[in-house]
Amino acid sequence: MTPSLTLWRNANLATLCGHSAWGWIEQGALLTQGETLLWVGAEAELPIEHAPYIRLTQDLGGALVTPGLIDCHTHLVYGGQRAAEFELRLQGASYEAVARAGGGIRSTVAATRAASDAQLLDSARQRALCLMREGVTTLEIKSGYGLSLEQEARCLAIARQLGKTLKLNVHTTYLGAHALPPEFEGRSDDYVDAVCRWMPLLHAQGLVDAVDAFCESIAFTPAQTRQVFEAAKALGLPVKLHAEQLSDQGGAALAAGFGALSCDHLEHVSAAGIAAMAASGTVAVLLPGAYYFLRDTHLPPVAALRAAGVPMAIASDHNPGSSPGLSLLLMLNMACTLFRLTPEEALRGVTVHAARALGLHDRGQLAAGQRADFCVWDVAHPNELAYWFGRNPCQRVIIGAQERVL
Ligand code: NIG
Ligand code: FE
Repeated sequence: MTPSLTLWRNANLATLCGHSAWGWIEQGALLTQGETLLWVGAEAELPIEHAPYIRLTQDLGGALVTPGLIDCHTHLVYGGQRAAEFELRLQGASYEAVARAGGGIRSTVAATRAASDAQLLDSARQRALCLMREGVTTLEIKSGYGLSLEQEARCLAIARQLGKTLKLNVHTTYLGAHALPPEFEGRSDDYVDAVCRWMPLLHAQGLVDAVDAFCESIAFTPAQTRQVFEAAKALGLPVKLHAEQLSDQGGAALAAGFGALSCDHLEHVSAAGIAAMAASGTVAVLLPGAYYFLRDTHLPPVAALRAAGVPMAIASDHNPGSSPGLSLLLMLNMACTLFRLTPEEALRGVTVHAARALGLHDRGQLAAGQRADFCVWDVAHPNELAYWFGRNPCQRVIIGAQERVL
């Protein structure tokens, strides 16, 4: 059978491959076969042997093309919202104080449990569409607002359903160890036992791609986190961690010891934590939306992460408590203005490094063999993706070599 190829020509490519800035290719082209990139390069160098198999040619009009964007940390499935808590915090209440008083994550757990499947699915779908309009082609969704076997399964199944019904790749993360549900009040060790018991049941239903935990003074201890990670390891599931968001718990080093895919937040990570992440190849997922919305002032140590060679990803952390934003492009801008990433680091943070934070090696760059997920932008240079805010320059999204129409 002869291969049927599509040629996407007349574009400037930020491939994010190799060591040149942006992996830049002027007057480039992409050849796709099935859902995959067969060849990427300067149009003038298109290998002649492919020419007879090109069935369709698309002229991209000289536009900028990047890999499809990847939001590698979201809590997209939940009921209700927390605008009243936002008002309380504006009046001086801290995020921790609200959580300790039974608000915070627990209030979203109550709203999620009270919501119907249709309500949860529809609200998550609307949120996913916002992210998709800005070029997101792969999305991670965590559970963590159900906190019982049935409710965690329900939220993960809704996340899976989004991936089946939208033109979007969804990766699910089991975050049972997010907060202590009220029925386990005063029995947090018992709850962690339950989280670990539920894990193989959820995994057997095909609902879990990775396991996460919230290691913090208002959530779970390092010892409890270790127990969750041991359970994941026994199932061969990769782990990641909400680590050192509000204080240094030694979570990053603990997670790195389990070969974690990523440690996320990291405002308070220590030098030892950074060294451990560098040694294990763990990605640092920086979440400027949460930093901004919690009016945090303790910056993650970006210069030290960079110096240690820890790959940095950027994500929306979309959730109703600490980051209700739905723009990954705004996160690019904030990663630069607040965290001092370069625009190129920020773009790598929502493409190639975000892919690695999900354990995915088949996307995040424009190169032969990668998935044919890419965005066409109405900007001249990729540094503009981190520059504009409140403007969406995404013109076209191609996912699995197919045009996505929303
Ligand atoms: O990533 N830090 C823990 N989890 C979320 C916030 C969840 C919430 O407040 O509902 C986060 O910031
Ligand atoms: Fe989070």
